[in-house]
Amino acid sequence: MESLDAERDDWLRQITAAADLDALERIRIAALGRSGAVTQLLKGLGALAPEERKARGAAVNKLKEQVEAALAEAKGRLEAASLEERLTRERVDVSLPVKAESEGRIHPISQTVDELIAIFGEMGFVVAEGPHIEDDFYNFTALNIPPEHPARQEQDTFYLMGAEGTRPEARKVLRTHTSPVQIRTMKAQKPPIRIIVPGRTFRSDHDATHSPMFHQVEGLVIEKNIHMGHLKGCLIEFCRTFFDIDDLPVRFRPSYFPFTEPSAEVDIGCSRAGGGLKIGAGADWLEILGSGMVHPKVLMNCGLDPAEYQGFAFGMGIERIAMLKYGIPDLRTFYDSDLRWLRHYGFSALDLPSLVTGAR
Ligand code: DAH
Repeated sequence: MESLDAERDDWLRQITAAADLDALERIRIAALGRSGAVTQLLKGLGALAPEERKARGAAVNKLKEQVEAALAEAKGRLEAASLEERLTRERVDVSLPVKAESEGRIHPISQTVDELIAIFGEMGFVVAEGPHIEDDFYNFTALNIPPEHPARQEQDTFYLMGAEGTRPEARKVLRTHTSPVQIRTMKAQKPPIRIIVPGRTFRSDHDATHSPMFHQVEGLVIEKNIHMGHLKGCLIEFCRTFFDIDDLPVRFRPSYFPFTEPSAEVDIGCSRAGGGLKIGAGADWLEILGSGMVHPKVLMNCGLDPAEYQGFAFGMGIERIAMLKYGIPDLRTFYDSDLRWLRHYGFSALDLPSLVTGAR
């Protein structure tokens, strides 16, 4: 019986020498394919006499197993090599600067909103939204705003036309502040509540510091045992983080809002010496937001028991704090869509606000 050793050595040598997976596949077909050499040897067994077939069959099957094992080993080795080669070839140089600088810019309003979300998000607040076209009830009545309040005057607020004979309190208004979202949220979900509401607001006003459309951010916290200390801690933390000044002086000045009791306006320290404005320690104060403990009547208007739940709220103008932080002198320029302005005051799309980057 002719030995199969030479045949086996030949296949093993070819398999070891295969340069890549394609070459290996061609060898596999030549050996084990339907009309491959080893397959032919197996087929040839049928023509042998039974005695001879037994010994020869064992030898051919052994050859087949050895070839198969060698193919499997080579396949694993070549696959690993090919992956290794791809990893080297397709390497990304992460140290290369990206080309975003020449692309678009993020508007300072969007950037400031993202900063607010980063700061308050870290304190456990979530973002809530409400409609721009609001009901009189949510914008005024539920917030305990009395009928004679100036914001209710025709000349201060944009009212939508109602059908002939619509009662004044059934008219729709462009919301004059983000505070109605306080009511919507308290009516829709049970405490604990911790929301901020960045969004557009509308008033009939137009000069260097007022625009008929502007942005506010509202904050609302409703939980059990919330007190003025929480309000103060939260807002001091916010002011210092937003302006990135650790020892920024923050002052709470008694004030009045119909929907809070007590109410406080929040001032930050600044210096106006020499004509310019510098935020930080100094002899002067600058008002930046309104706040207070949510009025018991407002809680009751939302079906909450003031003996069980308390909370605080605040509201501030986004343009105003953006102008202060980024030294933008005129409010109207925010909406001029002047690309030179946007290139100057805008932000790179990669300049994501986070607490690590000083929220800017
Ligand atoms: N809504 C007020 C405004 O537009 C701002 C404000 C003051 C909101 C005090 C509040 C607050 O939530 O507690 O002038």
